[in-house]
Amino acid sequence: MESHTGRPWFAAVCAGATVVGALLLSSAPARSRSAAEATQPQATPAIGPREPLPPPRTRGSLSLEEALERRRSIRTLGGEALSRQDIGQLLWATQGVTSPEGLRTAPSAGALYPLEVYVATAAGAYHYLPGGHALEQVVPGDLRPDLWRAALHQEPVRQAAAVFVVAGVYERTAAKYGVERAPRYVHLEAGHAAQNLLLEATTLGLGTVPIGAFDDLAVQLALGLPGEQRPLYLVPVGHPVA
Ligand SMILES: Cc1cc2nc3c(=O)[nH]c(=O)nc-3n(C[C@H](O)[C@H](O)[C@H](O)COP(=O)(O)O)c2cc1C
Repeated sequence: MESHTGRPWFAAVCAGATVVGALLLSSAPARSRSAAEATQPQATPAIGPREPLPPPRTRGSLSLEEALERRRSIRTLGGEALSRQDIGQLLWATQGVTSPEGLRTAPSAGALYPLEVYVATAAGAYHYLPGGHALEQVVPGDLRPDLWRAALHQEPVRQAAAVFVVAGVYERTAAKYGVERAPRYVHLEAGHAAQNLLLEATTLGLGTVPIGAFDDLAVQLALGLPGEQRPLYLVPVGHPVA
């Protein structure tokens, strides 16, 4: 699907941004939220108990410079399941809590934390709860085929062991920074979080590629996301195929 010369996914990203902008302009003004309130997820109803993840490691075998040098978009991925440790590590890198005040691995404008992260595996789709470093299931069964269709049949999404979805809630950031500035901040934050995820995958020896070309509504429906959670990035991760 992705070519380095043609950029069909780029046109889709632009179309998606237009839709998101229109939705934002039509949304009601958000009430003021404290940082503590903002860290509470605006719920996708859980269908299972809260499942704690193994504690994240804060020592790795690769330096930051090595990870930066090695990171590459890899589009041929193996579907062999990731360990729970690796899934937890990838989620922690994306949005994990790293301070007693609730500050996270990725910076956030006003510490309002507008991002929500999901992961779809063969076993089901789960919502990440940064505060407890835990998962809660939101969809039973394997959503990866739905996400693959939503992502314009891009192969890495079908092949990956796990597809991470970064969604943004513009209203959380708009409450402090206004509706004009909020989309910029939320998109920048999605980039920070996704880069953390890509670098962590690299340090774990896993393959990954950031995917911006997808049908927003199809992803939202597949995951059952509340209307205010707009999917911004898909990040399939799997074992690289030699
Ligand atoms: C915002 C954004 C959206 C992207 N969307 C896609 C995509 O939909 N499909 C894809 O195969 N690659 C996608 N990519 C990956 C780029 O094609 C890739 O980063 C670029 O070719 C440079 O290669 P590298 O990542 O190996 O350095 C996207 C990258 C960015 C930053």
